[in-house]
Amino acid sequence: MSDTAMNKPVGLPALPSYLDQSDAVRARFERLKQREVILKVDGLNKVFSSGQRETLALSDISFETHRREFLCVVGPSGCGKSTLVRILAGLEEHTSGDVLLLGEPVSEPGRDRGMVFQGYTLFPWLTVKKNVMFGLEVNGSGAYEAEKQALQWLQLIGLEKFADAYPNQLSGGMKQRVAIVRALANQPRILLMDEPFGALDAQTRSRMQAHLLEIWRKIDITIVFITHDLDEAIFLADRILVLSAHPGQVQELIEVPVPHPRSSAQFISPEFLATKARLEELIHKGEAPDEEDSGTYSMVARMTDIADDID
Ligand SMILES: Nc1ncnc2c1ncn2[C@@H]1O[C@H](COP(=O)(O)OP(=O)(O)O)[C@@H](O)[C@H]1O
Ligand SMILES: [Mg+2]
Repeated sequence: MSDTAMNKPVGLPALPSYLDQSDAVRARFERLKQREVILKVDGLNKVFSSGQRETLALSDISFETHRREFLCVVGPSGCGKSTLVRILAGLEEHTSGDVLLLGEPVSEPGRDRGMVFQGYTLFPWLTVKKNVMFGLEVNGSGAYEAEKQALQWLQLIGLEKFADAYPNQLSGGMKQRVAIVRALANQPRILLMDEPFGALDAQTRSRMQAHLLEIWRKIDITIVFITHDLDEAIFLADRILVLSAHPGQVQELIEVPVPHPRSSAQFISPEFLATKARLEELIHKGEAPDEEDSGTYSMVARMTDIADDID
């Protein structure tokens, strides 16, 4: 008997390869790749310099996203995910390489890109409706038109009843829903999201993920979504760009084999688990064990005299 056969847990069927795709999934990826390229990143490098010190944060990053694609970017903390999204937004300069949105170089923020961050970025002194209207008015819509559109967006996310409420009257999930439609109201070509659900509790977070997929299905938007939550990435993404740390480099671009439409029942499907196993392998590859910390997890002192063992 071979080593691998001996080590296989009894009773658990082997997972398929994350590279295996059903015919429907393969056909979907073929259609996706035929759609126009919205964002093209080619040989992107980013060096931070402070005093004498130079940090290579991103090294030779290349990828493309197609129209209406949902791309997730995952990687360990500090691998440059936020730096990447800030460069795509035009908020941070890159050192070399190309960032092209519809073929045009990105050098500053523009209304063709919408952004949603983790922190609630709504203006607290404006009502929900006025928050959504704000960008529309800045971009030249009259008040009447801006209000009409804002109400339509709020209707899309089921928050029209809260149009006249202020942000502090909303739950965290509702605030982030408003932040999403506020970003979408200007009809950007791409929505850039940096760990947007990171501050939400687990239940709200999973509702928001399903909600975001619903919005994405209904409108013409390409999404680049940063997360370090692997389940979130698999649930949301068409493809997942996996970065390594120090410097941030592309390890793999994974085509998620989980079929659409997505549902939480798929979290335990073989394709889902196979993808997760691959992501874990990539993310934890080469991770040095933390010397100082090692062993301390088993050092919880016993603080009861009760003799019976709960195991
Ligand atoms: N303004 C900055 N100046 C110097 N170094 C920075 C700056 N911003 C980020 N970095 C460094 O770049 C790397 C990537 O950071 P970041 O993009 O925030 O990673 P992530 O979002 O994946 O956690 C880190 O090593 C970080 O210390
Ligand atoms: Mg970050």
